[in-house]
Amino acid sequence: MTDKLIIFDTTLRDGEQSPGASMTRDEKLRIARQLERLRVDVIEAGFAASSNGDFEAVKSIADHIRESTVCSLARANDRDISRAAEALKGAARARIHTFIATSALHMEKKLRMSPEQVHEQARLAVRFARNLCADVEFSPEDGYRSDIDFLCRVLETVIAEGATTVNIPDTVGYAVPELYGEFIRTLRERVPNSDKAVWSVHCHNDLGMAVANSLAGVKIGGARQIECTINGLGERAGNCALEEVVMAVRTRRDYFGLELGIDATQIVPASRMVSQTTGFVVQPNKAVVGANAFAHASGIHQDGVLKARDTYEIMRAEDVGWAANKIVLGKLSGRNAFKQRLQELGVEMESEAEVNAAFARFKDLADRKSEIFDEDIIALVGDESVTAEQEHYRLLSLSQRSAIGDRPHAELAFAAGDVEHHAQSDGNGPVDACLKAIESRVKSGAEMLLYSVNAITSGSTESQGEVTVRLQHGGRVVNGVGADPDIVVASAKAYLSALNKLHSKAERVAAQG
Ligand code: KIV
Ligand code: ZN
Repeated sequence: MTDKLIIFDTTLRDGEQSPGASMTRDEKLRIARQLERLRVDVIEAGFAASSNGDFEAVKSIADHIRESTVCSLARANDRDISRAAEALKGAARARIHTFIATSALHMEKKLRMSPEQVHEQARLAVRFARNLCADVEFSPEDGYRSDIDFLCRVLETVIAEGATTVNIPDTVGYAVPELYGEFIRTLRERVPNSDKAVWSVHCHNDLGMAVANSLAGVKIGGARQIECTINGLGERAGNCALEEVVMAVRTRRDYFGLELGIDATQIVPASRMVSQTTGFVVQPNKAVVGANAFAHASGIHQDGVLKARDTYEIMRAEDVGWAANKIVLGKLSGRNAFKQRLQELGVEMESEAEVNAAFARFKDLADRKSEIFDEDIIALVGDESVTAEQEHYRLLSLSQRSAIGDRPHAELAFAAGDVEHHAQSDGNGPVDACLKAIESRVKSGAEMLLYSVNAITSGSTESQGEVTVRLQHGGRVVNGVGADPDIVVASAKAYLSALNKLHSKAERVAAQG
């Protein structure tokens, strides 16, 4: 009998609650597909009752994902739970995750309910959910700050009503590893029917201990499910980072002694996809997925690694999906070679038309950049202009000039539907001039919340620049991403991509708090 640790990914639900990390339905589906390639056990796809957009996103993921369990969050009431069940109808494996707060503070100040009312509502919610779905998870929100006697009673009740997983959130990131681990162990010892459910940990990172707390919940407490997000995405300081817990359990198998179903080679592609989609850049020194995570700069380290890799490396970069910056394709590569490389990179295209569109962009890039790396291809297929719903604005041409002492000036043409627009503007710099030129025609009135540039392949100015623009308008926050060897062009593409999202009639799926 193997002792398995279940990986429950909540990037698309708790991760998306991070202000500015809102995603469209198509973006969520694309990430869900990558999570399935990563072989996470459970994908929390959203909070179906929170908006029509979120309902559609959960439904679309449930309809397409076949291997991972697809889960929807639901407050502990019949309406939310019914909505979750409806969205999950098409799932091969479905889970309803219902929650209600159990700490004195939350019950009194937020819910304005007595402990007995909360207890009863938890019982009824799990009973109702179990009539609709065989796999039901219950979370006592702010569980770690709850009175332990009360929590034991609630957990015993929900397990008796058929909850198959009980999850203990450290909602505000207050826990420290040893105490959290002991808290879980005590709960498991004191709840009489604790052996009838899987115990799960859900830790926030406010004190930078979400990963350590989760691991303590597993090691000391005996939990067998970890809830986590790619890149640790999440509200405030984020959630427990999937890549870190997974690689800790895998690298220190000698200590944890647990099996994982994860395909670790999909970690870096998943990290890139989430970062590119949300505009939340990964810090270079971030464990496992940061650009420097496997870089050895000091002479002593380099010498050691060359002589014997394990002198300074406890994991291999390729095991977590870092491609060795290989030159994979060039100007003369044909469509078949391109298509094969997409398959090797695990990129699925919906249709031949999509392959053709991506290949045309590849050819265009290869004309301007002699060496094309895997990272370039991933950026190219991640280019949101692929998605028809977002194609209203398209950049047609751009020229700009800047010289020391002169005010920068940009002239460009872009299509808005079938209409071609020409615009020009001065600006503080060439990027500013360019975006002002676009805005002078579109007149979106959007407020820019973020502008950032990153080199797609590190180490050289020959790299493509990847620009993220975050815009806010009418209560909606959207991210646009654009890549190009010319960062002014990349900026214009990113800006138009964000405007496309604002323009799109499709409902946003962000719960935004
Ligand atoms: O942090 C939290 O308490 C949550 C619950 C809804 C599980 O995200
Ligand atoms: Zn949470």
